[in-house]
Amino acid sequence: MAPKNDENIVGGIFRYHDETKHHYERYARSPGHMDWQNQPNPFRFYEKTQVIELPLLKEYPRAEYPDLYRRENNQQQVFTIETIAGFLELSLGLSAWKAVGQSRWSLRINPSSGNLHPTEAHLVLPHLPGVPGGVYHYNAFTHALEQRTEVSDEIWQQLALHFGCRGFLVGLSSIFWRESWKYGERAFRYCNHDVGHALAAVSISANLFGWKVTYLNGLSDDALDTILGFDQTRYENLAGEHPDLLCFIRPWGQSDIPRSLPQSIIADFAKLSFTGTPNKLSRQQINWEIIYQTADLTRKPTTVNRRYDYGDPAWIHPTAPQLSAAEIIRQRRSATDFDRNGSVSRNQFFSILESTLPRNGCAPFDAELIKASTHLLIFVHHIEGLTPGLYFFCRNDQELNPIKQLIRSDFIWQPVENKFPLYLLEEGNYRQQAMRVSCHQDIAGSGAFSLGMIAQFKASITDEPFRYRHLFWETGMIGQVLYLAAEAHGVRGTGIGCFFDDAVHEILGINDNQYQSLYHFTIGRPVEDPRLRTYPAYHHLSR
Ligand SMILES: Cc1cc2nc3c(=O)[nH]c(=O)nc-3n(C[C@H](O)[C@H](O)[C@H](O)COP(=O)(O)O)c2cc1C
Repeated sequence: MAPKNDENIVGGIFRYHDETKHHYERYARSPGHMDWQNQPNPFRFYEKTQVIELPLLKEYPRAEYPDLYRRENNQQQVFTIETIAGFLELSLGLSAWKAVGQSRWSLRINPSSGNLHPTEAHLVLPHLPGVPGGVYHYNAFTHALEQRTEVSDEIWQQLALHFGCRGFLVGLSSIFWRESWKYGERAFRYCNHDVGHALAAVSISANLFGWKVTYLNGLSDDALDTILGFDQTRYENLAGEHPDLLCFIRPWGQSDIPRSLPQSIIADFAKLSFTGTPNKLSRQQINWEIIYQTADLTRKPTTVNRRYDYGDPAWIHPTAPQLSAAEIIRQRRSATDFDRNGSVSRNQFFSILESTLPRNGCAPFDAELIKASTHLLIFVHHIEGLTPGLYFFCRNDQELNPIKQLIRSDFIWQPVENKFPLYLLEEGNYRQQAMRVSCHQDIAGSGAFSLGMIAQFKASITDEPFRYRHLFWETGMIGQVLYLAAEAHGVRGTGIGCFFDDAVHEILGINDNQYQSLYHFTIGRPVEDPRLRTYPAYHHLSR
């Protein structure tokens, strides 16, 4: 149960959410221009650390598209620095460089709003051949680990005993300034979407190596600060790393694990001494105060270990993509323009949707972040064999009736296919409306379909205020799956963080905050920009 003062906390979170809504007549507060001279470096370096250069994969795991999610075909790899490097390369590494004229920028396996990449990753590794046990920061630019501290075999023995198996820890954190530099107050939402994308990328990549990722949902953010050494690091003002989550990665098929760490182990980490000087990200940081206030309000305390049972919905829409799992991961990109005549077949559409359903035995949702709290409000523009219109895809059937009660009573709720939680709400051409509510962005109306992610909002946050961040993480995870599923079917997706919140709610007839649209997404046949040149991900390294 939430502590007493939660009313103020919850009120503060709702205030942040309301104040950072975009409206037709007023966008959320932001700088309104790009201060290029002050653009934050998208790469964090911990200088003056021992650096371990990671090898690049010589061969990608031999896995097909369904093996991104399913586990049984993926060969279990032993933990070595080579396999861990491969896992990082296919989750958080660079995927390519792009150039047009004199401008050059890198892209990553995980997407990020504005390509600003506020998410950082840290590993807690046991001693491996050639690598001392330690806490390491993963530097995606150099594909290297920067050692922040050593972790003794004794601590690892306790960890292995506690979890009952071998494995290692991955932590994610956010640097809000990277995102607020461009987006101002709304940036906190985008940072959290990005965490969700990164968590899904980590869970899916681990799966290809035969490993399973579990979110340690009992741990507090204070514990993360200690374990990852943030509380011992001197960051420049507003350039610090905000702890998000810690996961344990273990060979798939082992018995279940605890979702927290004993206080004695956390205390051992507190005794370690962390080194490394964080690099300067920009000339000066600007304080978008409400972000830091909301980060405080949504800080996670220690909680009881939770387990989520998602059931095992059958995969009923088989797919036969031409590309391997690793190729799909590596070629994931955001579309910037769609062919208005491009369509998706009915089966492909269903297959894309069903990959967003959480299942007990499937990545990425079996990382067990949260009960399924987010559903898809879909604007179907051009799906072969399906009437254009407004559809609802329910990711948790327990919420179907409450949602039906809540939203407009004239929707027809016509099931589209037996045993598939997709419903037609209303026929019609929604291209204009979809574009309009997504900040007038063409891509929301010109693809095959676009959607808003409708999350159970008020109850989740009133119960546990830190869930505000989790809801955004969940939408990011769904987004990552949509990106990959789109690539697998020869189309392309784009996450859409810019939308007019209440205009979307109006379409549904929602006029309170029981449910809120938190993230949008669009999928269609991409039109490539012929001006763009592409270079390999790590051509800048001599390795
Ligand atoms: C949370 C999030 C929000 C985004 N919002 C938008 C958006 O509103 N409009 C848009 O064109 N692209 C949007 N994008 C796409 C990013 O601009 C894109 O991910 C980034 O430029 C990196 O390119 P890549 O996805 O090809 O790696 C968003 C991406 C994410 C992850």
